Amino acid sequence: MADLSFSESNSAQRVAERVERDAGGSLNAFIVPFIQHLHTLIRETRPTHADWRRTMEFLTEVGHASDGRRQEWVLLSDLLGVTALIEEINTNRPKGATPNTVRGPFYRADAPRLPLDANISLDGIGVPLWVSGRVLDLDGQPIAGATIETWQANAEGFYENQQPDQQPEFNLRGVFTTDATGTFRYRTVRPAGYTVPCDGPVGQLLGGLGFSLGRPAHLHFMIKADGFETISTHVYDSSDRDLARDALFGVKQELVGEFKPREKGDGWSLDFTFVMVRAKKGRRQS
Ligand code: BEZ
Ligand code: FE
Repeated sequence: MADLSFSESNSAQRVAERVERDAGGSLNAFIVPFIQHLHTLIRETRPTHADWRRTMEFLTEVGHASDGRRQEWVLLSDLLGVTALIEEINTNRPKGATPNTVRGPFYRADAPRLPLDANISLDGIGVPLWVSGRVLDLDGQPIAGATIETWQANAEGFYENQQPDQQPEFNLRGVFTTDATGTFRYRTVRPAGYTVPCDGPVGQLLGGLGFSLGRPAHLHFMIKADGFETISTHVYDSSDRDLARDALFGVKQELVGEFKPREKGDGWSLDFTFVMVRAKKGRRQS
């Protein structure tokens, strides 16, 4: 006679057996531990029927609020620190290399290629910022021909694709290539910090519970060079008082840059060095 028992003490085991028997190897190694941890969580926190119903309602709302333009599931993962943890697990770079952080939803793959020294502020609104930097390998050798994609919020904390009617298309975005000395330079405006989208179920729930929803001011960078691991990261403004309260747990000491006043008094400058790691053979770059 098959075992029909299902109790607090054997629930995870029963489900694992079913997965093993009925689904065989078609489920990856993540699913069975996920089910077991879920059962442990339920046993330990002992939700009532009403608690569980509210949880299901919340998850339903998260699904309804997600579509091709908006991703509440990703936001949930971001605010719970899960996206940052997955980044840590998957890019374990040696000391001295520039770490990755979450890419976020505002990246566009079709930003224009621009010559060095171009100004990416197409509306000229904000405090001028001159960005310069170098791309090096771990031995300090310059990487010529590296591609630097940058994107950032404006002086009010909004990305161009959040405000298609107010900002010019591709405002504060550009793609540059390092010269023979591994150097890049461009002009922009100082970005403001902003709040992650908080009008959906995730922001409402976690914001209501007191989670920080703010992001300190930052510039985004994606750096690619043949034979090197792609860097997808941020550079944070050291003067932002909320560095330690980043909603996404993305701030690392190595990613904090100092915005310095220019001698001419006409704005600010930021100089930042990115250090790339050689790609492991056979590993595909995303
Ligand atoms: C961002 O930095 O652009 C971002 C990342 C994740 C969620 C929201 C915004
Ligand atoms: Fe951002």
